[in-house]
Amino acid sequence: MKHKRALRAAVTIAVTGALAAGMTVALNPAAAAGTTLKAAAAEEGRYFGAAVATGKLSTGAYTTILNREFNSVVAENEMKWDATEPQQGQFRYTGGDRLVSHAQANGMSVRGHALLWHAQQPGWAQGMSGSALRNAAINHVTKVATYYRGKIHSWDVVNEAFADGGSGARRDSNLQRTGNDWIEAAFRAARAADPGAKLCYNDYNTDGVNAKSTGIYNMVRDFKSRGVPIDCVGFQSHLGTSLAGDYQANLQRFADLGVDVQITELDVMTGGSQASIFGAVTRACMNVSRCTGITTWGVRDCDSWRGSDNALLFDCNGNKKAAYTSVLNALNAGPGIPTDPPTDPPTDPPTDPPTDPPTVGCSASVSLNSWTGGFVATVKVTAGSAGTSGWNVSVPLPSGASVTNTWSATATGSTGTVRFANVDYNGRLGAGQVAEFGFQGNGSASGLTPTCTAS
Ligand code: XIL
Repeated sequence: MKHKRALRAAVTIAVTGALAAGMTVALNPAAAAGTTLKAAAAEEGRYFGAAVATGKLSTGAYTTILNREFNSVVAENEMKWDATEPQQGQFRYTGGDRLVSHAQANGMSVRGHALLWHAQQPGWAQGMSGSALRNAAINHVTKVATYYRGKIHSWDVVNEAFADGGSGARRDSNLQRTGNDWIEAAFRAARAADPGAKLCYNDYNTDGVNAKSTGIYNMVRDFKSRGVPIDCVGFQSHLGTSLAGDYQANLQRFADLGVDVQITELDVMTGGSQASIFGAVTRACMNVSRCTGITTWGVRDCDSWRGSDNALLFDCNGNKKAAYTSVLNALNAGPGIPTDPPTDPPTDPPTDPPTDPPTVGCSASVSLNSWTGGFVATVKVTAGSAGTSGWNVSVPLPSGASVTNTWSATATGSTGTVRFANVDYNGRLGAGQVAEFGFQGNGSASGLTPTCTAS
């Protein structure tokens, strides 16, 4: 990463000098660009990974792409509970070992997936409950993490434990019914078994600030405050035809809790926006310094669990798709390019020149995600023509509503009119630039009208 930055600086100086001397310069920005996903990601201090079905490692066309483009692997199924402990107390590591040795022979890191999950449990565990299941689950974590000690870069210790929809609550499962503390017990057992592995929580439908991601956010914040060992949060990102506008802001609010974040199972529905969505996700990761890597859930379209969605970066013949180029370009561009997703290019150029004079000061707008008894508000602050060196946003809340937590701003008060001030990294905005912050609350908060003051 440093190398590339230094190189960019050197190019700038050289060009400036040449321009000053009245020379023409042929710039070749591609000279420093990575030509594979793994090289481009590595230049930005990140990894680029793929989920691997170990049965395919003997297929040359598959392995050629895997080895050329990826430097991290995760087992698509081989390290799950049903695969590693098919009978209680009898462990089977054949598939996982195959992946680990392929990784070691090819300089790849390994993500372990997944120690505990409500799905793909062996039949014997599915039929258990209470303390017998809790003991069996913790024993599983301990045994598998101990077996692979020193070989796994990051473990998905717990996968998909939160419910979809607006509750922000845990998903019901046999594991959840053993007591709400099952997740922290799993993380503690994993840390004891392999102190060198990063320990992650992993989930889907968390691709923006929403009730589910906020439930997870609150759990991670609680874990950090109580010293429960958690190092990272994985965002699966099995995506459709659009991307939430606050995808990056959501990654950032987790990073701000002091954990690394990763995109762990990326695949995107085919269609007009596929390439732009892949690019926007990659840019979001580039823009969040604690986003340490991206993994696609498979290699070629035909390897994907999503079948006809053609959701990956290579077609069934192993050719690079437009989505591949979009990801590679975003990796090579590095941080600083806005994440704004997929607007298909406008068909007609805008005809009317803008008539409104630019606002001086700043303006703010709120988007709300509400459920019964609670809400998450995402606030966009836009600087007027003079820019800002700091900003304050006042939000009058309806009676009965209160703010319970805030990210990327500092709140004063929690009921009535709550004032939000910039934090140190987002107060200084150029004309028209946008900062985003958010807050969560109890009660109901429709029709919020924020007022922005710039300083
Ligand atoms: C999927 C695999 O890709 C399939 O082969 C398997 O049949 C089912 O599981 N979230 C996860 C992954 O965490 O483990 C899932 O993988 C996809 C959704």
